[in-house]
Amino acid sequence: MITVFGSINMDLIATTDRLPKPGETVAGNGFATAAGGKGANQALAAQRAGRVVHMVGAVGKDEFAAPALALLDQAGTQLAGVKHVDGPTGTALILVGGDGENMIAVVPGANGTLTASDANRALDAMREGDILVLQLEVPGSAVEHALAAARGKGVTTILNLAPLTVDAPRLGRLADIVIANETEFERLAGQDGMNAADREAALKLLHGETGQTLIVTLGAEGVIAIRDGKILRAQGLKIEPVDTVGAGDTFCGYFAASLDEGVDFHKALRRAAVAGSLACLKAGAQPSIPLSAEVANKI
Ligand code: RIB
Repeated sequence: MITVFGSINMDLIATTDRLPKPGETVAGNGFATAAGGKGANQALAAQRAGRVVHMVGAVGKDEFAAPALALLDQAGTQLAGVKHVDGPTGTALILVGGDGENMIAVVPGANGTLTASDANRALDAMREGDILVLQLEVPGSAVEHALAAARGKGVTTILNLAPLTVDAPRLGRLADIVIANETEFERLAGQDGMNAADREAALKLLHGETGQTLIVTLGAEGVIAIRDGKILRAQGLKIEPVDTVGAGDTFCGYFAASLDEGVDFHKALRRAAVAGSLACLKAGAQPSIPLSAEVANKI
């Protein structure tokens, strides 16, 4: 069983020919809303990959609460662990440029109310061998408590080190498996401006110190990981991205689902990388997450 402890947002998405520079105004050419939030996106990806998924998080009591949960609900994700609190649902203001790149500002809203007792709610229903998936879009104190409680129960933890927060390097040491992009990994390793050789050396050093499984996503270059002392690589698909929002979350959800299903680690990386590539071909975070059969067709 997979439980995701994390954020649930409503994404407000504007598309532009190019992203603005600080202080600049550019004309938009489209606007849409879509369900998002790193936690919810990862839960939906694991669900679409075919697993039983429980979402633990929070929404507000506003007009965004229902649409933010709609796709999870339709997919069959267990939502009893989502609390409804006074105040607004989390929102993300997203700009997507013509090249598919994005800029995001997240206003936490209800996500900011999660505490250690919510982490306990998540863990109460979990057993040894289950998988807990976390990100850093909810308070670091709640994430820290969840990681410690999971360790006490023999629950496997997967921490996606996004978005990068001041707590990220410390919390990153507490999970069994860490998934980070290049920048997030540099912060975890405490070294900026890494080239490929530096990254591999840092993976070996950190893994030697902590024994953790470490996975670094590299965008179009695929993914590099270290597990049980072995460096592994996997590629996604060669694509022209339309919108990369949610691609990292799709990777995390598919990876968690594959581990939960007992898929071999290297194959899990490849499946997750392919799913992440497919998520770049459609607009919006949750609407772009592929179904298991679509991913299987491309592996
Ligand atoms: O990772 C993509 C997500 O980041 C978006 O759905 C948005 O809600 C922000 O949390």
